[in-house]
Amino acid sequence: MLPKKITTAKVPPLKIQGIKTKLVPFIAESVKWDGAGTYFEPFMGSGVVGFNLEPQKAVFSDTNPHIIKFYQDIQTQNITSEDVRRFLEAESRKLARTPADKNSYYYEVRDRFNESPNSLDFLFLQRSNFNGMMRFNNKGMYNVPFGRKPERFQKALITKIVNQVAWVESILKGKEWLFVHAPFTDAFAMMKKGDFVYLDPPYIGRYDGYYDAWCESSASLLAKLAQNGPAGYAFSMWYENQYRKNTHMQEWTNGVLVTTEHFYHVGAKEANRSKMTEALVVSEANFNLRNESG
Ligand SMILES: C[S@@+](CC[C@H](N)C(=O)[O-])C[C@H]1O[C@@H](n2cnc3c(N)ncnc32)[C@H](O)[C@@H]1O
Repeated sequence: MLPKKITTAKVPPLKIQGIKTKLVPFIAESVKWDGAGTYFEPFMGSGVVGFNLEPQKAVFSDTNPHIIKFYQDIQTQNITSEDVRRFLEAESRKLARTPADKNSYYYEVRDRFNESPNSLDFLFLQRSNFNGMMRFNNKGMYNVPFGRKPERFQKALITKIVNQVAWVESILKGKEWLFVHAPFTDAFAMMKKGDFVYLDPPYIGRYDGYYDAWCESSASLLAKLAQNGPAGYAFSMWYENQYRKNTHMQEWTNGVLVTTEHFYHVGAKEANRSKMTEALVVSEANFNLRNESG
């Protein structure tokens, strides 16, 4: 199933900081894998990579229980794209009737979600919050502020979100996919020869507000498990930016390293365009040589 030519990746319904949408074509071209085994994505986040690769058998996992529950709910049809439409239409009217400040209806939904989490509220918060962040405090409480747009859910946006959910519904049909709430170590315990794992852990030394903290020892353990495990792997990491190089790459010694440049904007000015080199370390047997010749 890989390499695969993907020009533009499709975006799933739940976004997250560090989403790899722009890197999906690069990842899909840099890897070869026959797809006979199981595809693992133990740091699922938005799931954008695996959803676009569409393997037949997959295990998506993450320590964030809300992401996993959301996709389990779609898989079991506990929520459907039509439920999403009805819910967002009703909730958007309530949101539009309240101000953009701390009295916004957004905060009522946030409190209700923190008291008793459910997938529809989670989607509502994710799509009306500040910048599509997915952040929790150390007690696991969702704490992203409102994006300050009471009129946020226009008809076109609701349709876009409904279509994103419908896209996930369509790829789930006929696939053997599992969504598991678990740390990456549990996913490694399930892997066998012939499987493939895509790894995109949090950055070390940066507070991202993901559901769990990430530290040096987790990063070292991951490098060890991936490089000594039975499955082929591709590991994503930032390589360097204008200020510094990522020294943690040094623990990845077995595979082939490929890099690509990625621009991101801070504000609208051209001068604020920063360059980040993104790296992918691919296990030797899974590296797609075609990528080298361009
Ligand atoms: C960089 S994000 C993944 C982004 C994803 N590749 C995307 O494109 O949307 C890292 C993810 O790892 C999860 N995570 C953090 N610590 C973890 C752990 N110990 N085991 C499994 N997942 C973890 C976070 O909840 C977050 O969803």
